[in-house]
Amino acid sequence: MGMQSDAIQRYIRATGASHSEVQGEMVAYAHQHEFPIIGPDAGAVLRLLARMTDAGTVFEFGSGYGYSASWFLAGGADEIVLTEIDEAELDMARSFLARAGHGDRVQYELGDALDVVGEYDGPFDLVLIDHDKPRYTDGFEEVREKVPEGGVIVADNMIRGPIDVEALSAFFADEEPLPEDASEETAGIADYVDHVRADPAFESFILPVGSGICLSTRVAPRE
Ligand SMILES: C[S@@+](CC[C@H](N)C(=O)[O-])C[C@H]1O[C@@H](n2cnc3c(N)ncnc32)[C@H](O)[C@@H]1O
Repeated sequence: MGMQSDAIQRYIRATGASHSEVQGEMVAYAHQHEFPIIGPDAGAVLRLLARMTDAGTVFEFGSGYGYSASWFLAGGADEIVLTEIDEAELDMARSFLARAGHGDRVQYELGDALDVVGEYDGPFDLVLIDHDKPRYTDGFEEVREKVPEGGVIVADNMIRGPIDVEALSAFFADEEPLPEDASEETAGIADYVDHVRADPAFESFILPVGSGICLSTRVAPRE
């Protein structure tokens, strides 16, 4: 079983999306500094979504230094709004994305993504939620009316990251309460998944790619 899953992983990686030169540098930085980027497999899904929705504007909650944005841009998104509370990371994003030739399609917003989103009317064809796990649901609520029918909200870290996946499994599959000492990250992800699944305007599911991404497609017109 171990051997087989190793083989599958190697097979998938060897045939997966490859990095541009600048993306390769971004990955090297992530390895050196243990920075949690979404990685090439989830990145390829962002690129695919940008192509399939013929994306106009994309909005990101928590952009880091621009790795996830580089995939939306590679998929042809017209414009992307990056938000980041860490100024040094946002400066790195500016430099990486300019060198990748994407500079004129990017808005760089320093500050809390939940404040910045209020300054934009949208529409956003695609959204990535990848900031503070306990505030994912707030991010979804702030942005849901800015996403048109057919648009997709993606949220990272559903199955890996600073979360207890055993507790999430027991919560959803066995209807057990979360343990009292569950971290606020685990509670945040449980709340997010519960919340989007209950929203009748969206169809949601978790794709077990990378750290696990929840895809929520808007299937009803905006109010
Ligand atoms: C997992 S990293 C983002 C990785 C990025 N999406 C990628 O895949 O390349 C999360 C980032 O969110 C930022 N962050 C945390 N809380 C935030 C907030 N309230 N508003 C904006 N950014 C935030 C952190 O500084 C960190 O850089």
